[in-house]
Amino acid sequence: MFWWENEFLQVKAGRLFPAGRDAAAIAGEHGTPLFIYGSERIRANFRRLASGAGPSPGREIRICYALKANAHPGILSLLKNEGAWIDAVSPGEVQAAVRAGFPPGRILFTGTSCGTSDFEPLLRRPGLTINLDALEQFPLLKAARDRIAPGRRVRISVRWNPGLGRGFNPKVITAGARSANGTPVKFGIEPKDVPGLFRRARAAGFDPVGIHQHLGSGWIRDDYPAVLEAVDRIVGLARRLEEAGFPLEFVDFGGGFGARYARSQKPFPVERYLRTLLRRLDEAGIKAPALAVEPGKYLVADAGLVLLRVEYLKRCFGNLFACVNAGTFNTVPRPAIYDTARHEIINATRVDEKPKRKMTIAGHLCETGDVFGIDVRLPEPRPGDLLAVLNAGAYARSMASTFNQRPIPEEILV
Ligand SMILES: Cc1ncc(COP(=O)(O)O)c(C=O)c1O
Repeated sequence: MFWWENEFLQVKAGRLFPAGRDAAAIAGEHGTPLFIYGSERIRANFRRLASGAGPSPGREIRICYALKANAHPGILSLLKNEGAWIDAVSPGEVQAAVRAGFPPGRILFTGTSCGTSDFEPLLRRPGLTINLDALEQFPLLKAARDRIAPGRRVRISVRWNPGLGRGFNPKVITAGARSANGTPVKFGIEPKDVPGLFRRARAAGFDPVGIHQHLGSGWIRDDYPAVLEAVDRIVGLARRLEEAGFPLEFVDFGGGFGARYARSQKPFPVERYLRTLLRRLDEAGIKAPALAVEPGKYLVADAGLVLLRVEYLKRCFGNLFACVNAGTFNTVPRPAIYDTARHEIINATRVDEKPKRKMTIAGHLCETGDVFGIDVRLPEPRPGDLLAVLNAGAYARSMASTFNQRPIPEEILV
C-alpha cells in the first residue's frame, strides 16, 4: 500500500483509481488536465475532526470550512450537510457559501485590508458575523451599518494577534510581529486593544460575540508546542473578556493543521489538539458555548488531484523531461508561490512498474520554473500516460489562473 492511499485513492492492477473509478476512464470521459475530488474522503476528513475530540458536553465544536481552499459548489454543499460553518474572506466567498445553501448565520467573515466596499455587501446579509482585523475597520463598519442597517445589532468578533505565529512557509505565518523571513505581519489586533474594542462595539450597538486567532498554515507535529502556547494566550484573553462582562459565544482557534504532502511528513496531532482545546477551555472556566476551528487544507487537500497527460518524453543536454499538458503556476501554483511546498506526482497509468527513471516533469508554460518536479523518480511514462499531482484538493484550483491564455482545467467531484 502506498502512503497516499485513502478513501479517495486506490491502486488496482497497477493503475490509479480515484474515487473508485479508473483514471483512464475518467480522462476518456472528461479530458485532461482535470481536477478530480473525492466526496467520500472529504466526508471522512470532516467526521474525523467533528468526532475527534470525543464527547464535549456543553461545548459545540464548530468546524468553519476555510472556503478559500476550494470553493467547488458540490464540496460546499457536502460540508453544509455535514454541519460545517464557513470561514469567508471576501464578499465573493460569502456569496459562494450562500449560493451553496449556508445561511449567513453560519458564516464568519474574516477580511483583512477591507473597508466600506466590502462591508456594505456584507451588511446586506443579516446574521453574518464580521470578524474585525483592525481597530481602523471599526469606524468604517459602523458608518456602513448606520447607512445600510441603522440600529441593527450586527454580530462582530475580533481577530487578535497573539504575538506568535506558526506555518510551513514565511508567507503563511499570520501572527506575531514579523514572519520568519522578516515580513511585517499585517493580521490581527494587538492584545492591549482588544477589551477597548469590545467596549466601543457594544456601546455603538454591536454584538461582540467571539474572539479569533489564526496563526498560520501547514502545521506539522513539530509545531504542536508553539501552537499550544498561542492556545493558552487566547484562552487567557477569553477569560479576561468574560470576567470583564463580555459573554462570548465562541472562541475561534483558526485553521492551520496541515495535510500530509510527503511520506516523511509527521502529521499534526489534530485529535489530541482538539481534546486539548476543550480541556484548556474547561480548566480556565470559559463559558463560551462554542469552540471553533477553521480548517481548509485538512478537509480537502488529500481529497483532490490533477490528472495530466504526458505528451512526449524529451532528452536535452542529458536531462530527461516528461512533458505534460498543463502548467504549474496556472494549475497547481503552491510550489511556485511557496518555495517549500511540494506535491507528490505519480504515474497513474503504471503506478508501481519497475524500473523507475529520474526525470523532470515539465509543464506547458513559457518559463523554466514551470516544472511539477525535478529529478522525480517515476515508472517511465509513455506518450499518452496519465500523471497525477496529488494533494491538489486545496489551494490549487482556487489559486489557478489563465496565465499564457490557457483555460483553467475542469473539475469534477466524484
Ligand atoms: C483566517 C483563516 N482561517 C483559516 C485558514 C485556513 O488555513 P488552512 O487551510 O491552513 O487550514 C486561513 C488560511 O489562509 C485563514 O486565513
